Amino acid sequence: MYTVPQLADFSGPSLDAAVRDLLAALESEATAVVGETDWRAFRDRWMARKNGILSQVNDLWLKAAPGPQKRDVGQRVNQLNKSVEEAVESAKGRASGSSSSLASEKLDVTLPGIRRPLGVEHPTIRTMNTIVRVFQRMGYSVGEGPEIETDYYNFESLNFPPNHPARDTQDTIFIAGQERKAQRDRLLLRTHTSPVQIHTMERQPPPVRIVIPGKVYRHDTPDATHSPVFHQVEGLVVDTGITFCDLKGTLDHAMKALFGASMKTRFFPSFFPFTEPSADVAVTCFKCGGSGCRLCKQSGWIELLGAGMVDPNVYQFVRKNGYDPAKVSGFAFGMGVERIAMAMYGIDDIQLLYSGDVRFLEQFA
Ligand code: DAH
Repeated sequence: MYTVPQLADFSGPSLDAAVRDLLAALESEATAVVGETDWRAFRDRWMARKNGILSQVNDLWLKAAPGPQKRDVGQRVNQLNKSVEEAVESAKGRASGSSSSLASEKLDVTLPGIRRPLGVEHPTIRTMNTIVRVFQRMGYSVGEGPEIETDYYNFESLNFPPNHPARDTQDTIFIAGQERKAQRDRLLLRTHTSPVQIHTMERQPPPVRIVIPGKVYRHDTPDATHSPVFHQVEGLVVDTGITFCDLKGTLDHAMKALFGASMKTRFFPSFFPFTEPSADVAVTCFKCGGSGCRLCKQSGWIELLGAGMVDPNVYQFVRKNGYDPAKVSGFAFGMGVERIAMAMYGIDDIQLLYSGDVRFLEQFA
């Protein structure tokens, strides 16, 4: 058991040795403390005002030191006071902690675990990726374009002349304060992915075989089948000798790949400014299989996409880049992703796809 020695001399080395012995004793006694009672004894032995080790140090070392050495001894004694206080404080933490540490280590294995729900691909995005993959397997590349477009790309270069009534079918949001710009430079939220046809042909000469997924905007009031923001997948093929047969075969294959081999397709005459001839493409009604029901309005067919042969007027806008209407021909198509998702999964209200309701979304997990 450590006792405070009287110092034979107060030189630096002999003070250092005395301090070293004391600190070693402090440390070994501190580690030996296990419970509350131990700790109290430890504290009193070192810190008791009467005859505690520190007070002995004060008497035997500091008070006994000759004048010239007082300062030196005083500094070391101050340091020792601090060390002892710290040792007592940290031993207290351990002493009281040791009784409650078992409690904190208790584990109730009957409690339910922490569930971390995994996110899933949103049904719209999943459908979009499925469509894109069908065309990738046919050798198509995949592209994207800006959602903020100029009037030129969204309308003019797709053969919607300024003030043409066909523009009324695709009203959108125009960026404000552009009255001083020429009409073709005014910015708007794109109403379809078709402008990316032009961007693509500006970037690469024929042949082209590309699909373009993306978000589009329309001035539409939300209801069960309309949303002011929705998604499309656009397709464009340009090469020499492309015919309407290629278009029919391609889309027929794509619909069978998406909905099953028994799916039939039917092409109805239609109009789009950027295709000639144009068609609306319908597929066998998913609900009744073609016999006629409320969903297909007794027709047996559901209209799913627009398509057609690229209008020669469109090539005029990219003629410099190798698109000579006398030499190349091509087809284009565009489909609404939500419509296809609704058909695939039997969703009867498009708004469900935008609600973010987990109870709806987790059905697609
Ligand atoms: N852009 C048209 C729309 O949003 C859809 C469309 C129709 C795209 C015919 C095409 C096409 O590429 O050939 O209504």
